[in-house]
This record gives sequence, C-alpha cells and structure tokens, in this order.
Amino acid sequence: MVKIAVLGHGVVGSGVMEVLKKNQKSIERKTGQTIEAKYVLVRHDYDVDYKEKFVQDFDVILQDPEVSIVVEVMGGVHPAYDYVKASLLSGKNVVTSNKELVAVKGNELLKIAREHNRNFLFEASVGGGIPIIHPLHACLAANQISEIAGILNGTTNFILTKMIKEQMSFEDALALAQRLGYAEKDPTADVEGFDACRKICILASLAFGRHVYPQQVEVEGITRITPEDVAYAEDCDSVIKLIGWVKRNFEENTIVIRVCPALLSTDSQLASVDDVFNGILVRGDITGDVMFYGKGAGKLPTASAVVADVIEEVKNPENIATMYWEDAPDHYVVDAKTAVLSYYVRAKVLDTKRATEIAEKMFGEITVLSRKGQPEDEIAFLTPETVERTLDDTLAKFQSIADAKLLGLIRRLDY
Ligand code: HSE
Repeated sequence: MVKIAVLGHGVVGSGVMEVLKKNQKSIERKTGQTIEAKYVLVRHDYDVDYKEKFVQDFDVILQDPEVSIVVEVMGGVHPAYDYVKASLLSGKNVVTSNKELVAVKGNELLKIAREHNRNFLFEASVGGGIPIIHPLHACLAANQISEIAGILNGTTNFILTKMIKEQMSFEDALALAQRLGYAEKDPTADVEGFDACRKICILASLAFGRHVYPQQVEVEGITRITPEDVAYAEDCDSVIKLIGWVKRNFEENTIVIRVCPALLSTDSQLASVDDVFNGILVRGDITGDVMFYGKGAGKLPTASAVVADVIEEVKNPENIATMYWEDAPDHYVVDAKTAVLSYYVRAKVLDTKRATEIAEKMFGEITVLSRKGQPEDEIAFLTPETVERTLDDTLAKFQSIADAKLLGLIRRLDY
C-alpha cells in the first residue's frame, strides 16, 4: 500500500481523487501496489464521500511518515512552494500540476529533489492531458532541439477559434468561454498570455537545460485582436493563434523566447489546432518536427497526467533524477526583437494609394491584403521578413510619413 496526500481539492484535486477511484484496479495491476489518498488538504468543506480524509493543517501531512508522495494541485507559488520544498526535504516524493510553481521555482525544486534523492515530477503543468514533459525529456533525448512553438492555452484558442469560424468579437467569444466554464471569472492570465508564458518557460527550461523565468519573456495576449484582423488573415490563407515560441542559438548558447498572437499559414500543423485543444510542435535535428496534440486543460485530462506521475513515483520511489535543469548564465535570454519575422500591419490612412506606395518603398516587397467591407481609409499588408527591431523603426517612420494610424500589428510566424 502506498499512501499519498493531495494538496488542494479544486478542479484538478477532485479529478485526481476520481481517477484514483475509477482506475484503481488497473493502476494496481500496473504498479503492483494499492495507492490510497490518505489526506486531502482543503481550505473548506466539500460534499464528497471521502470527507474523513480532509485536513486543513499541512503539518499533519508533513509529519506523517506513512505519506510517501505529496500531490500538489493548489496552484500559485505560495504556499505551494513552501509545502513542496518541505515535502522534498522530509523525504517525500512530489507531483505537481502547478505551472506557476515550476516556471518560477523549477530549478530550485529540482535541485532539492536531486540532493535528497527524491522525485519532483510535473507532467500536468504543460498541456494538461497531453504527454509532453516526459516525451520531450526522454523520447526525444537523442535530438538537439532547436525550436518549440505551441498553442499552450485552451481558453484563448477557444476564443480565437470562435472569432475565426463564427466571426465573433473578442468580447462575445470571451463571454461564451466564461459561460461554458473554460475561462475564469478573471480571465487575465489566459487572455493576456501569462498562462502560456509559464508553459513555454517550462518547455524551454526542460528542452535546453537552463531555467527561464516568466519575467524574462516578452508577452502579448489576444485582447487587441479584432474580427477585421481575422478577415485580413484569411486573405493571406492564415489564421491568428496565440503562440508561445522559443528558438535556440547553438553557437552563442542563447535563446529567443516570446508569447504573442501570430499569423500562421493554414498549412501549418498548428493552424488546425482548434477550440480548447492545445498543440505543441517540437523541432528536433534528428526527428524533424514532432507534434503533440490533445486536451490541454480540464479536470480529467489534467488528473490523468498527475496520476501518471504518481504511478511513475510508485514504480521508482528513488530519484530518477535525469530530468533536471540549472540556473541560466547571464544574457542567456536575448532580446526577442532580434528575431527575423514578418509583420501584418493594419492602418487608417488619409490616402490609401499614397500610403501603399510609401509602404512599398520603405518595407520592400509587401503583400497588400483586402477584406469584405474594407473602409476606403484602411490598408493592410504583410511586410517581408526582417529583423524585428528594424521593422519597428521602419513602422514608426511609415506612420509619420504616410499619415497612418496603426490599427493592428501582428507577427507572422513560419511554423
Ligand atoms: N486556463 C488554462 C487554459 C488551463 O485555458 O489552457 C490549463 O492550464
């Protein structure tokens, strides 16, 4: 019998309890052990048939030598970090679904786990039910990974899909996502890109072995995307997706990392990842592109990944320690504006013919876009690929010379 404690009884915590009960027999067959949740750490009562397991004091769990695995599904950095650290230091293995914790404290917690011969596993922190952490670490280990690009947030992907397929406004699509229970009441972390940022930080840290903190990443959400932008994107066979991406420079041992809305060609494998699904593209030198696809959020998909990590720790109670990353050297994350890409530009102008001619002179070979119902004073175009900082300079000059008021600016990515 292996006894575990579950910290938190929200969506994921209750899902973990459900999966452990539903698949108890098959888990027993796989591990040769019965896994029992001895405690569930809660802040208030819930109407379930295992109330006797509820405790409100973490010390009860910490001091109980019978508990060998602590499952942290509370979210947030504090007190999750303190509980996880104390658990590892006292000789317990830990599983977490908490992306914020891993993105902010992953290097430190992995180090503590290694020093104390314990496991710290976090498959559920990225991609919910999609296996990505273990495959990236183990199955793709023969590769040098050069890039990762992902649709890492289900809520924003749902909103953008509604904007693309049903011509909804951002506000209406967000309201629908909230009604369906995808988006939180306060949707800031999703729509402003912070959730996707934490996830790309974890993937970058794991793939390249150096910790990347969320505050090192340039982040832009989807709140400024309009149906007009969606329509112009369609004119160049593209869709708009919120992408977390990271590229490695092998010679200089640096990375460029960013979260932003991006135009993707409809040919891209990521372009057809719709609704609340997530898709993650990993570019390896041996495999080429590998795509991971599935449900990136939700109670049972996320609980599936958490329980898989528990099973792993039951099978390997001693540290499996190969999953590891370290602190990054200074200047490891370089200015994201050094990336080479193309901009989609939408602007209100006094004279469209004149503004288009000026854009052609300044940017080089632009692709002019059109849409149904396009006002006479609006232009939209794609610039050629250039270093982003240069594009910014040119855009500033274009606005002043062509009397243009910028209405939309979205990066175009080539995945
Ligand atoms: N709010 C997140 C999403 C949940 O919509 O993807 C999973 O991290």
